Amino acid sequence: MRVTKRYFRMKLRYTVLFLSLFILLAAIITGCSKKEDVIKIGVAGPMTGDQSKMGIDMKNGAELAINEWNRKGGVLEKKLKIIVEDDQHDPKQAVSVANKLVNAGTIGIIGHFNSNASIPASATYNKANIPMITPASTNPQLTEQGFTNVFRVCGRDDQQGLVAATFVSEVLKFKRIAVLHDKTTYGQGLADEFVKAINHKADVVYYAGVVQGDKDFRAVLTALKGKRPELLYFGGIYPEGGLIIKQARELGLNIPFMSGDGLIDQKFIEIAGPASEGSYLSFSPDPENIPNAKDFLKSYRSNYGEPGPYSIYAYDAANVLLRSIEAAGSADGAAISKAIHEMKHTGALGELEWDKKGDILHSPYVVWEVKNGKFTEYWKPGETNH
Ligand code: ALA
Repeated sequence: MRVTKRYFRMKLRYTVLFLSLFILLAAIITGCSKKEDVIKIGVAGPMTGDQSKMGIDMKNGAELAINEWNRKGGVLEKKLKIIVEDDQHDPKQAVSVANKLVNAGTIGIIGHFNSNASIPASATYNKANIPMITPASTNPQLTEQGFTNVFRVCGRDDQQGLVAATFVSEVLKFKRIAVLHDKTTYGQGLADEFVKAINHKADVVYYAGVVQGDKDFRAVLTALKGKRPELLYFGGIYPEGGLIIKQARELGLNIPFMSGDGLIDQKFIEIAGPASEGSYLSFSPDPENIPNAKDFLKSYRSNYGEPGPYSIYAYDAANVLLRSIEAAGSADGAAISKAIHEMKHTGALGELEWDKKGDILHSPYVVWEVKNGKFTEYWKPGETNH
């Protein structure tokens, strides 16, 4: 009798234990599958530090698009989750961030911002078969690697450098040019494309690299001044660009200054102050004049304030990625990349289409000028009367 009782008690204990384990396991499995019931999109760029303005502008643009899709129900009947990573515009950090995004299970990337981050990170995404669309990396090398998963929605520095060189040699008609760059893939690359496109129509009387993060460029500017250039061209980003033109003016170097997309941000005007006035910058046309951009501008401003130069690019990049996931009908990287290659996208920037390399078919660079503390479109290729 006693034995039977003990036997039943033990059986009951084991049953309870087994049931509890079963419930726990079921809860874990349901919890996990619930967690996986989202589609993860990675966004990477310089989110902290001296270029964070550009990174956050980009993150906001992508987030705006992702939120709009989520309000419509997401993609492939799943909600979208954005995972933002900070590459601090550092090549090594970019690779580490890329690995993090791959391991987190992202199926597409919006980023990176800087070419020296996008290029090394692209190899990681390529290996993992994850499509990446950069809103802003303009160095030609990125899409010359033969990767079928790499795209950009912006132009390239061979196009940008050519427009700048045409403007300087044929519109301003300068013959003596000084060139500085920040020794990065983008900065030096753009400066070299500019020099290549100048193609002996002017003399490059001074050419040097400066160090990113430096605050004092007076020595190089003094040496440069001695060469009596008529224009100073700079390949780089606004933290250094702003200080270079400010210090150039302080040293009495009162010649026109020109740079590219890395400087076209209000931060440049803030850093340089009145010295920024009259600076020429190559970039794409003003979204204010693009009819398709109206809704984006309104919605961005009501959510985040004034868009940065690359916010609209990140918005279009995210929409392209999400449309291609939908078109592919799956999270498979190769299918998504194929869908982008075959896609014609009517975005906020207008019509976007890609060639085999992942470059957009049309990238209309123009020249802007800083006028009364604001960026204003100044010249476009084909115009001569300035
Ligand atoms: N266009 C810049 C780059 O490629 C932002 O790094």
